[in-house]
Amino acid sequence: MEIRQAEFVSSITDMGKSPAKKLPEFAFIGRSNVGKSSLINMLTNRKGLAKTSAKPGKTQTINHFIINQKWYLVDLPGYGFASVSKDLRQGFGKIIDHYLIKSETLYCLFVLIDIRLEPQAIDTRFLDWAGSNEIPLAIIFTKADKLSTGKINQALERYKTELLKRWDELPPLFVSSSTNKKGREEILKFIEKSFSA
Ligand code: GTP
Ligand code: MG
Repeated sequence: MEIRQAEFVSSITDMGKSPAKKLPEFAFIGRSNVGKSSLINMLTNRKGLAKTSAKPGKTQTINHFIINQKWYLVDLPGYGFASVSKDLRQGFGKIIDHYLIKSETLYCLFVLIDIRLEPQAIDTRFLDWAGSNEIPLAIIFTKADKLSTGKINQALERYKTELLKRWDELPPLFVSSSTNKKGREEILKFIEKSFSA
């Protein structure tokens, strides 16, 4: 799919303020610093569209970007970011949960996981929560440029084994790098296909 247009639409800081125009939404979630905002920039080929930072906790609102005037990419705050105060963290948590459960136009939630890490409880807990709320999801492993192909395959196998302990079926899985654009075509193709599914 060609991305002809990508524009920031709005930041949601409290509940119930989604963009007025209802369009298919594809949202990105995962731990702080996993590379959500960078992936949005990579997919759209727009460097500064979503704000990124080496310091975790950069994205603190629900940000909608409209693509080709037809669908939204949604950048979400990270979970598990300890330096944000507990109140604020619980506040985010509620807003995100509410958004994810209530959105009638969420076509897919992409859960991002750093390919270098062993399966972490915080991610599997989130995946279980999303699964039990019947949120349509896919997993994107990030930062693949940091590992050799052999190590990437090892990490994938480890994750698949972990997921199959809890689920009967694997969700769609993608391997990506915002640095070398690995995964871009596959992820955009998946998004395109889900319009006609
Ligand atoms: P929060 O908004 O804080 O939740 O973080 P985020 O998940 O949006 O992460 P962000 O995109 O801001 O990236 C965090 C850091 O990881 C930045 O320093 C990025 O340059 C780096 N990064 C993101 N993706 C990649 C990648 O694919 N490869 C490499 N090597 N670095 C990456
Ligand atoms: Mg971010």
